[in-house]
Amino acid sequence: MSGVGRTGTDLDAVKETLACQGQEHVLAHWDSITDAQRDTLLADIARLNFTAIAPLIDTHVRREPSFTPPSNLEPAPSLPARPGLDEAGQYADAVKRGVELIRKNRVAAFTVAGGAGTRLGFDGPKGMFPISPVKNKSLFQLFAEQILGTNRRYGADLRWYVMTSPSNDAETRRFFEEHAFFGLSPQRVRFFQQGLMPAFDKEGRILLDAPDRIAFSPDGHGGSLLALKHSGALAEMAEADIEALTYIQVDNPLVHMIDPLFLGLHAMTGSEMSSKTIPKADDLERVGNFALADGKVTVIEYSDLPDELAHARNPDGSRKFDQGSIAIHILSRAFIERMTADEAHFGLPWHRAVKKVPYLDAQGRRIEPDAPNAIKLEAFIFDALPFADKPLILQTLREEEFSPVKNASGIDSAETARRDMNHRAAAWLESAGYYVPRKVDNEPNGLYEISPTFALDADHLREVMHEIPHMTPGGSHYWE
Ligand code: UD1
Repeated sequence: MSGVGRTGTDLDAVKETLACQGQEHVLAHWDSITDAQRDTLLADIARLNFTAIAPLIDTHVRREPSFTPPSNLEPAPSLPARPGLDEAGQYADAVKRGVELIRKNRVAAFTVAGGAGTRLGFDGPKGMFPISPVKNKSLFQLFAEQILGTNRRYGADLRWYVMTSPSNDAETRRFFEEHAFFGLSPQRVRFFQQGLMPAFDKEGRILLDAPDRIAFSPDGHGGSLLALKHSGALAEMAEADIEALTYIQVDNPLVHMIDPLFLGLHAMTGSEMSSKTIPKADDLERVGNFALADGKVTVIEYSDLPDELAHARNPDGSRKFDQGSIAIHILSRAFIERMTADEAHFGLPWHRAVKKVPYLDAQGRRIEPDAPNAIKLEAFIFDALPFADKPLILQTLREEEFSPVKNASGIDSAETARRDMNHRAAAWLESAGYYVPRKVDNEPNGLYEISPTFALDADHLREVMHEIPHMTPGGSHYWE
């Protein structure tokens, strides 16, 4: 629906469409709202894509689609984090190829930051969360500095695409402006908003957030593919000859955003979508699991992996499904173009989540539910993997690349992420040959932080550290 007006035949057409869809209640407060509110409501209604929504109400909202994991699931093949003799030549060539792609700006960085971050309980876009151990830098600043560091190291000028949602877009942009884009050129940073899906009650009725507002929520990070297209970012990438996009989620301060080896392997093997994996911390760790289903690489979320498979063992006693997905991918631009060419048949499946969503009841009272009352639908980026040609999975090390900030306390919290950033900085210093004071329990004695503008990895640190760093037990140490 588009181009609707508030009066006459246009309004009749809106009413008719809503009636056909069983959603007339969306106009329940029409008579009591102002003309300006009516315009707002009509604009919201125009955003409803009934062609996509209508079939989902039956299959995903009124009932829960049954998920049966494929019966023939097998572990997926992957490349080792450190090359053995067999891979040494390939990895060396890959690093060269990756560096060449960076130098020529044939790659762009991409961060999905549209999520609500409810579990963290932080009042603001998650990327603004302060996290680094010494300087308390935000996640966004750490990512910006990685791009800055990469640009300096390789003489590049990379673009960065940041996906927001309507509820955090303005605040995210303001944060970047207030911090002068952390030293990046504002012309190279592009924000765009992701798509929305309405929330439904359990009978499939679209919920209202206010008399003139539909209760929309972000359509999941899988929505980024269409959002890249609709925002013009994809066309801009084609114009600039950008071949690949490095995808990261906003919550992982350890991520290597632009990794020459990973990029080079992606390009040299002709992979359309590549992913990084780490061995799981335990059978039931709350991460996706890479697997092969009917010969296709796929990710099975922890919640969908049957217990018997989560606990399955190889003959040598090792875990059978041990490849956790840490949501680090590279997507070829041509693949995104292919996936989004025919929007009427967009391939990613929808996932159903039952959540607490405030809504207006029939009498116009705003209800703040204390139990989950609404169905939200989201698409996931990793569901693109089975569509990709030659998908590649590269192993990496948890201590080097994964410590997400998801929860307010405990596992995957700010506390664990800060600890792991400190551990990694200390390990890099030691691998460069310096003595780091440690406590009896082997924890680094003091705080250590290396700005990504100083060094991007342990090898890089060895190259750029020209003086013996002065480290005092219990002190705070920072290099930039
Ligand atoms: C996710 C993955 C899981 C993986 C884990 C690694 C899903 C469903 N699962 O879990 O397989 O092992 O990360 O950390 O994604 N986002 C948007 N728009 C949205 C929803 C999310 O941009 O509509 C962004 C968030 O801002 C965040 C990221 O996607 O950057 C992750 O979202 P979240 O819902 O927190 O995923 P997890 O359940 O933590």
